[in-house]
Amino acid sequence: MSRSAHPAGPRHADVLPEGHYSAPPADLNALDPKVWARTVARDDDGVVTVGGVDVLTLAEQHGTPAYILDEADFRDRARAWRTAFGADADVFYAGKAFLSRAVVRWLHEEGLNLDVCSGGELATALSAGMPADRIAFHGNNKSTVEIERAVDAGVGRIVLDSFQEIVRVAHIAQSRGKRQRVQIRVTVGVEAHTHEFIATAHEDQKFGIPLAGGQAAEAVRRALQLDGLELIGIHSHIGSQIFDMSGFEVAAHRVVGLLKDIRDEHGVELPEIDLGGGLGIAYTSDDDPREPHEIAKALTEIVTRECESARLRTPRISVEPGRAIVGPTAFTLYEVGTVKPLDGLRTYVSVDGGMSDNIRTALYDAEYSVALVSRVSDAAPMPARVVGKHCESGDIVVKDAFLPADLAPGDLIAVPATGAYCRSMASNYNHVLRPPVVVVHEGESRVVVRRETEEDLLRLDVG
Ligand SMILES: Cc1ncc(COP(=O)(O)O)c(C=O)c1O
Repeated sequence: MSRSAHPAGPRHADVLPEGHYSAPPADLNALDPKVWARTVARDDDGVVTVGGVDVLTLAEQHGTPAYILDEADFRDRARAWRTAFGADADVFYAGKAFLSRAVVRWLHEEGLNLDVCSGGELATALSAGMPADRIAFHGNNKSTVEIERAVDAGVGRIVLDSFQEIVRVAHIAQSRGKRQRVQIRVTVGVEAHTHEFIATAHEDQKFGIPLAGGQAAEAVRRALQLDGLELIGIHSHIGSQIFDMSGFEVAAHRVVGLLKDIRDEHGVELPEIDLGGGLGIAYTSDDDPREPHEIAKALTEIVTRECESARLRTPRISVEPGRAIVGPTAFTLYEVGTVKPLDGLRTYVSVDGGMSDNIRTALYDAEYSVALVSRVSDAAPMPARVVGKHCESGDIVVKDAFLPADLAPGDLIAVPATGAYCRSMASNYNHVLRPPVVVVHEGESRVVVRRETEEDLLRLDVG
């Protein structure tokens, strides 16, 4: 890797460009443990290591860009969720955040269940040995074939998302002489993202059946009548990257209200309640996520309190964290290709990936951190924007960042907290090849999802 001097140019932090810049960090070489995987550190030469392997070796062996995933950190976080909720609750890892067979095996070993939302995710889960009864099948438009495969496999629950699906699943189960365990996903009129939540009219979305207007109660009525279904509970998922528990409080209050209505109308106390996922992680040092044991305590207390006041037995709680488990465990390793200082603005740092390996910045205006990882630098902080190699000016990976002013082509930089919704949302835009997922553990690295090749691309293009 080059350690050459930087080209001349305006690389100073005296005047900050527009954006989410605060003061430059005191030490650009420091790695905030909040945003980096737990085994990340710098070695004596200042090179970043993870799982006991340094990034120069990782780049040499596996190339860049690459997602580097810390197995010990993943297992620790999965176990922490499992332990926090205890034996009376279930933790379903949301596979949409990132799924591979290695991940499925770790989840199985750590005692977690798995939430899938397509035939592909189901196939991955089953092929890696996740017992079907520990799988929940989600989705707002599951195909008949997907439902048949899920029922035939014996998945533990199907989360019903529409009136048509209630009938479809019942019919398929009955045609096989089965009674499928199901939950009904309801929309509770709460939408929560990051630090705020809004409790108004957020039934206006494609997922779930609204509580408002009695639609969810009607869905329950129909499900209870159908022989092919065993209704085990109600499901609610209110948003993503949530730090504030108040949205869950409103959601639990409304779901428990439905459970009470069901008891009063049908004489049935449904045994389960699923509060979905959406718990936030630190993408930058400004984010302060809660620990799993605090979340478990808060959610259990909320549900217990609501049930006590409704004089209901407290149902078994389940949750579906995806991002909160895998998000912090990985970073994306890039090589710097060009460094372009723009007078009076900022310096554009182009890397060898971009929106095809991380669409979240373009899609959600997401914020990320970034650090020079192949060496340390005592150069001044330079306001920078990390961009990709795609033909799109919105191809931004990190919008507002500080990098050392001597950053040069050939340097390795890394974007932490890219474990969730990066590889799983990756694309082939511009026929750029999707990066591998490399797992590091106890001084060794291994590829668990290999880098795409041009042969992979051409194999699909049948002319
Ligand atoms: C039903 C459901 N459960 C769980 C999740 C996982 O969310 P997160 O990865 O933010 O925890 C999602 C995400 O969209 C979801 O739709």
